[in-house]
Amino acid sequence: MKVLGLMGSPRGNGNTATLVNAVLEGAAENGAETKVYHLAKMDLKACSGCMSCRADGKCVIDDDMQELYEEVCSSDALVIGSPIYMWEITTQTKAFVDRLIALTCWQPCAKPEFAPLIKLNTKLVLAYTYGNPNPNNFNQYFKYMEGLFSYLGFDVQESIWASGTIDLDDILHQPDVLENAKEIGKKL
Ligand SMILES: Cc1cc2nc3c(=O)[nH]c(=O)nc-3n(C[C@H](O)[C@H](O)[C@H](O)COP(=O)(O)O)c2cc1C
Repeated sequence: MKVLGLMGSPRGNGNTATLVNAVLEGAAENGAETKVYHLAKMDLKACSGCMSCRADGKCVIDDDMQELYEEVCSSDALVIGSPIYMWEITTQTKAFVDRLIALTCWQPCAKPEFAPLIKLNTKLVLAYTYGNPNPNNFNQYFKYMEGLFSYLGFDVQESIWASGTIDLDDILHQPDVLENAKEIGKKL
């Protein structure tokens, strides 16, 4: 069992990293092999919209996403973590998500286009942190993201989040959130 963490905050030691690591820690406790990538430290270009991946499911951009394609395809579960920036995931996380189009949509001869022909069946946990203290502030957005990833063929397990996190270690004052994250990792 391989669980891959994709951490989308530019702050490598902030709240989102702690939340993603808690899930991975739980998974590791139950024997999973875990690995985490910090997207902001990688060379991840935005999708160029060239549509080359329509032909063979391969992205022509030669950057670190090539490594991530292999990692995603060889993982049993992903944990995608992002802070909320201006009501949505960070630019770094969005670049990663957009580039998934090569794996998830319009595989050879896909009709109709945008049909997710590849069922990755990869389990997915979505993890967020945000500054607003209201724990229900982004419920609608989180549901929408679950819909997107289900459509793309992922087996969405849970969305988890910590609200009211501004300073790097604010999440440490929310032990219940971290304990729940660890439990979810164990269940993976
Ligand atoms: C550019 C920027 C935009 C932000 N936008 C929001 C927002 O729309 N809503 C919110 O509640 N918090 C917002 N925040 C706060 C972060 O989501 C929050 O501090 C988060 O926990 C940071 O994660 P990190 O510690 O992993 O870096 C924003 C922070 C930054 C730097």
